[in-house]
Amino acid sequence: MENQLVVDHFTNPRNIGDLPDAHGIGTYGAPDCGDYLVIYIKVNREKISDIKYKIYGCSTLIATTSMMTEMAKGKTIQEARLITGEDVVKALGGLPEDKTHCANLSITALHFTFQDFNKRKSLGWTRY
Ligand code: FES
Repeated sequence: MENQLVVDHFTNPRNIGDLPDAHGIGTYGAPDCGDYLVIYIKVNREKISDIKYKIYGCSTLIATTSMMTEMAKGKTIQEARLITGEDVVKALGGLPEDKTHCANLSITALHFTFQDFNKRKSLGWTRY
């Protein structure tokens, strides 16, 4: 891996961990490579006030998820929903073509997290 920003996010991943009182939890695994991701969010005044994740995956998935969480934190869910895998790849300064699916996995898991948040909200399961 030659891209120093990717190496930095892989070796010093931001926002790793979990959130015991998460308002939304999303999981997603890639069927082709078996990599797996769990994302936790907390929401305050409609904004993502905190975001963490646990990961079993390749170095690029760690780097893309780290960058994705940096991009999503502080945004409203509506704003964060607009972040694409391509945006994450661009923010990292590019990835080899065969690794762009790692960024898409991060985004899919994020969308499942929002789905879970919306479900909890509609059922009144969460206070935020
Ligand atoms: Fe599977 Fe990166 S190779 S997510």
